[in-house]
Amino acid sequence: MKPLDDENFDDSHVVVSGAAADTQESISRQIGDIHRAYAAERAAGGPEATQPRLDFAPYRSSILRHPTKDLHHVDPETIELFSPAFGHRDVHELEADLTIQHNGEPMGERIKVTGRVLDGQGRPVRNQLVEIWQANSAGRYIHKRDQHPAPLDPNFTGVGRTLTTDDGWYEFTTIKPGPYPWKNHTNAWRPAHIHFSLFGTDFTQRMITQMYFPGDPLFGLDPIYQSITDQNARDRLVATYDHNVTTHEWATGYRWDIVLTGSNRTWMEEEDTDQ
Ligand SMILES: [Fe+2]
Repeated sequence: MKPLDDENFDDSHVVVSGAAADTQESISRQIGDIHRAYAAERAAGGPEATQPRLDFAPYRSSILRHPTKDLHHVDPETIELFSPAFGHRDVHELEADLTIQHNGEPMGERIKVTGRVLDGQGRPVRNQLVEIWQANSAGRYIHKRDQHPAPLDPNFTGVGRTLTTDDGWYEFTTIKPGPYPWKNHTNAWRPAHIHFSLFGTDFTQRMITQMYFPGDPLFGLDPIYQSITDQNARDRLVATYDHNVTTHEWATGYRWDIVLTGSNRTWMEEEDTDQ
């Protein structure tokens, strides 16, 4: 496994000019204003907003990055000739264990994360490539652009992948990531999270999202998490602690299902955004 490349790096550390002057109180006030406006729209019969706002002002860099033109549909026929066809020989089962990629044990809390990948009708999505990347237990990524003063772990790279089973199950063994600071505003911290990537049936359907951990005290303060204005949609990004996944004297366990389509769809990032 290689360290993260630029494409897959969590880009939260990029400085947005002038943004660091904002206080958490100011950012939280803006989040509150937007959420209250959304609640009022809902109360008046407005639609449910299950996706993040692309130009969510408290998340400063979204203002620079969000699309300003309508999306265009293109004929996918040509590119689909190059569709991936992953077989079980291509992805080794050991790649699903991020704690055994080096000679020693990584530092931190060993966890299992498991769940099902489902379509909008609740049917399992089988043989699906699921990739994850994450910070280590100290909240540090292996990447030249992550220079915050937390230790790297020589026994943890933070990248893994697996294929779903015939029943749509995936399972990773990893280390619980730490929260980390970013430069959206003064004293901005991201809640602990694991990045997930899924390819539907071809590369043109790649979807990227983040999984969070229950009860994180940073949820209310994080403009990325809060850029989804609907509480139910935000809740779908939070894993559940599951004692049946926890294993004796080895790892605590979390359950997180991913729904690709339909009204319970898990929020997926747009292709050209990095968080
Ligand atoms: Fe991240």
